[in-house]
Amino acid sequence: MSKAPSRAAKRAFSSVQIPESLFDELRRENLARWPTGAGVDLEEAAAYHRALPEHKRLGTVMRKAAAGKRCLTQPRGGFGTLDLQLELMRILDREGLADVVPTTTDSYTRNEQWENARKGIEESVKAGRSLLNGFPMVNYGVYETRKLIEAIDKPAIVLSGTAMPKLTGEIGYAAGFTGYLGSGIAYTTSYTKDVTLEEGIRNYQYLDRLVTLYQDRGVELHRRQPGFLTGTNIPPSIAIMTCVLDALLAAEQGVRNYGLELGQTLHLVQDAAAIRACEDLAQEYLRRLGHDDVFTPVTSLHWMGAWPQDEAQAAALVAYGGTLAAIGGAASVTTKSTHEAIGIPTPEANAEGLRTTRMAVYLARQIRVDDMPEFRREKDLIEREVRAVIDKVLEMGDGDVAVGSVRAFEAGIMDIPWSPNRQVKSRVLPARDVDGCLRILDAGDMPIPGEVLEFHESRLRARAEKERRPFDHDLAVTSVYEISESLDKLAPFGFRAA
Ligand code: 5AD
Repeated sequence: MSKAPSRAAKRAFSSVQIPESLFDELRRENLARWPTGAGVDLEEAAAYHRALPEHKRLGTVMRKAAAGKRCLTQPRGGFGTLDLQLELMRILDREGLADVVPTTTDSYTRNEQWENARKGIEESVKAGRSLLNGFPMVNYGVYETRKLIEAIDKPAIVLSGTAMPKLTGEIGYAAGFTGYLGSGIAYTTSYTKDVTLEEGIRNYQYLDRLVTLYQDRGVELHRRQPGFLTGTNIPPSIAIMTCVLDALLAAEQGVRNYGLELGQTLHLVQDAAAIRACEDLAQEYLRRLGHDDVFTPVTSLHWMGAWPQDEAQAAALVAYGGTLAAIGGAASVTTKSTHEAIGIPTPEANAEGLRTTRMAVYLARQIRVDDMPEFRREKDLIEREVRAVIDKVLEMGDGDVAVGSVRAFEAGIMDIPWSPNRQVKSRVLPARDVDGCLRILDAGDMPIPGEVLEFHESRLRARAEKERRPFDHDLAVTSVYEISESLDKLAPFGFRAA
């Protein structure tokens, strides 16, 4: 039985900031969806945040890292009961030396199936181990969840890979988490099949608007765009287009501390160029829309595609991921572990991934490649690709980013490889080229300039010739599995003369 839509639910779809009275109504409806919603008291929560020491506020910690040109380390991690999560967060903080401590939510919570999450907690308690793939934050509610914040001496971030963040956002921020990862375009297009882009964008507009309520009360919360898309090969320009659009949507709601994430391509120069281009392009478009005071630090993500089973191979990816983040000048790096191919890491393996990365960051900390001609070429390519698409998206929305984004996805002007979402065309196809860079094999309907695509094609053809294989879509598929291949298959490739 569906109730008549409220005034709030009928809000016109646009990127314009949600008016306060309407937002109050939206919040009341949202918080009434599960009993723990009643535990959210905005004034009490804001007072709790104001009393947190500076070093436990992610917004401030990110600003300091960026200003000091440091690269912070942050893992992911979530277990199904409060006790297990407390232990995990303490280990990540103390043994992993994590600069930012996470709480990943479980899949039921991400899909707003709180009744199933409740059963998962019960069964996990009974079994004495986690039967959920993350922490069911909504079920525990504000005051139990706050114990996690009290258990660590670092800032904490909610990682909830969802297009439906409205209740985890309320509870997470009220509990004392100072950051929340997720965005309307990135998560809707990479994690959902039937959630419409409009719904996903609206849901994150809610979260971004919530952040401005805290802002009005003297609390600067960190919001972050989750960069990675579809766990395959995402050329930097496509990830950056998504970052730019999500950042514009957040800024329109009033967010001023907004991180941008980028999955690593694993090509050192291309990754460094991507990190720099991401921040520059986000700032360029934010300013163009009149937002000249948004802080947009970039986080580099350890490889987001398929990982090798062999722990030795995985260890190389972990360490190299630290190197890439440091050389690229990222403000933080999100780590994985040698357990990535197998499943959720033990707290100890997770902590080890953090320490391996931290050492790699330290070793590479003074190195920069920004003056290399290849860096300039890659950055220039990325900029031309991103501007061509974003300009078109803005044009399609007559200046409204939300409307333009939806129209652009429907037309394939904005596109993402291998998206599970029905609204995304997914005609664009990437592949790894002869130099090890990710390129666009087929642009689908994306308006990427012709000369740029010719360059991509020439490097991809060079790979096909070198490996004596056809230049076709199979190149895209092979490229997806490449990194997870066993070493005996990869070694001949590695030893081939340049
Ligand atoms: N604990 C640790 N890492 C997790 N990830 C997802 N859930 C958890 C969890 N509960 C990580 C995995 C995955 C990435 C998106 O997040 O590394 O690949």
